[in-house]
Amino acid sequence: MTATWDAEAGELHLRNGTISYLARVLEDGSFGHLYFGPALAPGRSYRHLGRRSFEGFANRLGDPVAREYPTGGAGDFRVPALIVETADGASVLHLAYAGHRILPGKPALPGLPSTYTEQDEEAATVEVRLADAPSGVEVRLLYTIFRDVPAIARSAVIRNGGREPVRVRCAMSGSLDLPDADWELLHLSGTWSRERHVVARPLAPGRVSVSSVRGASSHEHNPFVILRRPATTEEHGEAFGFGLVYSGNFRAEAEVDAFATTRVRIGIEPEGFTWTLGAGDELAVPEVILVHAADGLGELSAAYHRLYRERLARGPWRDRPRPVLINNWEATYYDFDEDVLVEMAAAARDLGVELFVLDDGWFGERDDDTSSLGDWTVDRRKLPGGLEAVARRVRDLGLQFGLWIEPEMVSPRSHLFAEHPEWAVGVPGRPRTESRDQLVLDMSRPEVVDHLFAVLSAILASAPISYVKWDMNRSLTEPYSAALPPDRQGEFFHRHILGVYDLYDRLTRAFPEILFESCASGGGRFDAGLLAFAPQAWTSDDTDAVERLAIQWGTSLGYPLSAMAAHVAAVPNHQVGRITPLATRAAVAFFGVLGYELDPRGLTAEDRAAIVDQVAFYKEQRDVLQRGRFHRLRSPFVGDGNTTAWMSVAEDARRAVVGWYRVLNRADPGPERIRLRGLDPAASYRVRTWPAVGDGIERLNARVRGGDDLMQVGLFIETDRAGTAALGDFHARVFVLEAVEGDPAWGPEEAPLPV
Ligand code: GLA
Repeated sequence: MTATWDAEAGELHLRNGTISYLARVLEDGSFGHLYFGPALAPGRSYRHLGRRSFEGFANRLGDPVAREYPTGGAGDFRVPALIVETADGASVLHLAYAGHRILPGKPALPGLPSTYTEQDEEAATVEVRLADAPSGVEVRLLYTIFRDVPAIARSAVIRNGGREPVRVRCAMSGSLDLPDADWELLHLSGTWSRERHVVARPLAPGRVSVSSVRGASSHEHNPFVILRRPATTEEHGEAFGFGLVYSGNFRAEAEVDAFATTRVRIGIEPEGFTWTLGAGDELAVPEVILVHAADGLGELSAAYHRLYRERLARGPWRDRPRPVLINNWEATYYDFDEDVLVEMAAAARDLGVELFVLDDGWFGERDDDTSSLGDWTVDRRKLPGGLEAVARRVRDLGLQFGLWIEPEMVSPRSHLFAEHPEWAVGVPGRPRTESRDQLVLDMSRPEVVDHLFAVLSAILASAPISYVKWDMNRSLTEPYSAALPPDRQGEFFHRHILGVYDLYDRLTRAFPEILFESCASGGGRFDAGLLAFAPQAWTSDDTDAVERLAIQWGTSLGYPLSAMAAHVAAVPNHQVGRITPLATRAAVAFFGVLGYELDPRGLTAEDRAAIVDQVAFYKEQRDVLQRGRFHRLRSPFVGDGNTTAWMSVAEDARRAVVGWYRVLNRADPGPERIRLRGLDPAASYRVRTWPAVGDGIERLNARVRGGDDLMQVGLFIETDRAGTAALGDFHARVFVLEAVEGDPAWGPEEAPLPV
């Protein structure tokens, strides 16, 4: 990995074994983009990669000159990265190269979550300074190249080096110009309980964007997009990823111009955003992780998985196996008391569960969702001994104890709102829109963050709490802070999310041993920003196994399995009413951080035994499932979506777990093969199926086979007619592969073929 600056040519080359990123100082003094893609040889000049010779572009309006941080108003009519209104009311900047420095490792971004290095050798950072002489506006562009992943982290710091205040109206995290437009935009979109479905659309002349103006990254769109060649698959072809490390309003946008070049920009949503910089003030924008994959979406995802799991997540829980939990929400909703919780925990302990989570309803007088948010005092009607007593009893059973909180909210019916109505977001003199009967606290006010830190620290210190589920259950409306002056209201949304980060930072630092899980009505804030504080997130309120196939598949494009909380819930499912087999629910939830969302007290003996087996199985395979290399094999978004398959492989490829799912059964579906990936072609693997039911599929696969054979031919899904009928709808099968020494073709495990 190298970051080199050729002083004579004014050319920057960031390079690791896989990728190169090239930029240079153009003849007009601006900083131009040359290339991002597979690694190019070091020590050469690549100035010819600029679209054409640059003399004369100053008087050729609309030419697709690629700049690293484009500004508008001076002949580049495409989407800009930066718009700053100067004191004279103009919004025209000419950013010229003003210097650079190369730093080992990666500096932190003030006030913002970001990827990091543990040793300087893991990455190199280049800071390029640009300046607009008439206004004094300066930009520091930050580029980090990582040694071990095909990724570049980009960010920018905007500084007012002039004497008069200026207003930033758009400051994106990064802009990337590509020399052609033969791309499809992939994005993850949906709504509550249907998050992160994969949407693909070809680029065409004009602009296309996804964004959020909800004050959170949102269920509707995710701050992660991909450009892929139309022919790119999971295994082959080129793709670029753009992952924003941010949890607030964002925009990701692609523009194809008249010359069929493509510009992509991603960062804070410019609509409604302004930020005033007084003389000497600075604004740091969130970082974006750019990934280039030459060999398909699988490779692209693997880069994000590794970087986010190992160098974005932090704290002791980053590398620890995540506990199997049970959450009381769908089992009891608001209706519980200490004994009920302890009985549930006792029953869960007997299943092998490791952590009991007390969800909503333990504080104030919260018997439904119409009151008490903000009143973080224990409801003694339900918990007479406080959290301390219930947590102790749970701990005495041998389980850890976890707690739900929703810090950023306030119920109009609460003591906090009675005392501090001005702390709620809203425009004085106008009604505030309620959602789920609640309002949002103004996190841009430092005193609100201080208050929450004090009360929540006291709660977390009051009992042996090992885990926190940090929820956030509504979008922001009437965006306005009574604490900000009128001309700074455009700063509200970003200041609000900076306040959220501040609280997360302080609480996670004060309680480093607590495992934090983020949540926003399910997956409404499933983004890389929060992964820096909470290494796992509640993926969706939809716990139905079939719905989860699409949700978890889509999520896995940009986020690791160690971040995806996935629970087995009761049937009929509470979101869609579907009845799926218990084994199928587990087979889906295994590919994430496993939990249970049901009442363990009323289980039949058969279900209890099945769950004991599930939990034991998951613990045995946990390292592969939470930290392995994930391969998507068959997409629920392709064709009729009836079949999904995926697998996770241990780093050393000695073990793998495969999940195969068929939504609706078919009479006589014919033989099917699932070709595997990521195995050692020279190794021999013993294949077993879970759960062990002794049917044709199991017998057919129960043998030792070569990694090459499993990847070229695949596992067999095949039964006779009677066997197929017995599978029913919503069938799943999990296969475990373990490398063994021996003859790949006919090992000792060989079983007779079904007749
Ligand atoms: C949100 C969460 C749920 C649950 C409820 C509690 O909807 O996503 O898991 O915690 O809030 O009110």
